[in-house]
Amino acid sequence: MRLGVVGLGAMGAGIAQLGIEAGLDTVGHELDAARGEAARDRIVHFLTRKVEKGQLEEGARDEAVARLQLTTELADLAGCDVVIEAAFEDLAVKHELFRGLEAAVREDTILATNTSALSVTEIASVLERPERAVGMHFFNPAPLMPLVEIVRAERTSDAVFETAFQLGAALGKTPIRCSDTPGFVVNRVLIPLLNDCVRVLDETGVTPEDLDAGMRFGAGWPMGPCALLDLVGADVHVHASEALYEKLREPRMAPPARLVRMLKAGKLGRKTGEGFYRYG
Ligand code: 3HC
Repeated sequence: MRLGVVGLGAMGAGIAQLGIEAGLDTVGHELDAARGEAARDRIVHFLTRKVEKGQLEEGARDEAVARLQLTTELADLAGCDVVIEAAFEDLAVKHELFRGLEAAVREDTILATNTSALSVTEIASVLERPERAVGMHFFNPAPLMPLVEIVRAERTSDAVFETAFQLGAALGKTPIRCSDTPGFVVNRVLIPLLNDCVRVLDETGVTPEDLDAGMRFGAGWPMGPCALLDLVGADVHVHASEALYEKLREPRMAPPARLVRMLKAGKLGRKTGEGFYRYG
């Protein structure tokens, strides 16, 4: 199987890494060559850490990296069996991409979206063959988190849904079958929960360090909510919260004021060097 990944930010690069590690020839698309190279560097870095830790042979790393082809042209995705879109979370951006992709690929190519909070059905609505569209929602960091949500949109065909499910398993993930409901399964629960955590900071006056320690050592979370929000990024989280709030109208879904202030101040988390914590 030949895999395409469109958008090589943190999620797209992670998905492309999964593809080449699983032995798939993978074509990664970015808007410009520099962003593509940055993604390749990121992938090489993480695979090299695996080599250093004895989890991967050097030769296997080199073979995996050689399976990654970078492009800035959608036309180079023509030979792909499945293309996973991991571009910016904006419906207009995704519509333009899906139109362009459908014009570039074969009639039987599956078009998957890694959207976390938009409707897969709405994204697919611009396609001439919407039955080829499906959601494949990975979690951050994609190479480490074991889950992928396979999302059936209104018009997803059974064959496309099953192929996406099997691809998720072939990429080493535990796939679960979801419907195209707001936030699917995990974000429907996790986004309001993280928003509660941020509101608790203000209500109780505890520090991010203490809240994180509380949830790690008292609730068994692998990382605290503030560290997790810094990993996900205030921009991504606020956008997802707004999208869920718009659809479900539950007050807990709305982004907490503190996070919106952080977003406006550019304190997005790890990606800008400061969020609840400082990095770098
Ligand atoms: N990509 C590839 N490899 C990575 C990586 C990344 N982004 N980040 C780390 N690694 C590699 C590193 O090489 C690292 O080893 P090194 O530090 O020796 O170089 C190796 O993975 C292991 O990393 P850690 O030692 O940090 O691994 P941990 O055992 O501490 O686990 C974790 C890290 C899996 C992130 C764990 O802390 C965890 O499960 N956290 C919760 C994350 C979570 O909940 N994610 C979901 C977010 S919500 C979401 O994504 C939905 C979206 O729609 C918003």
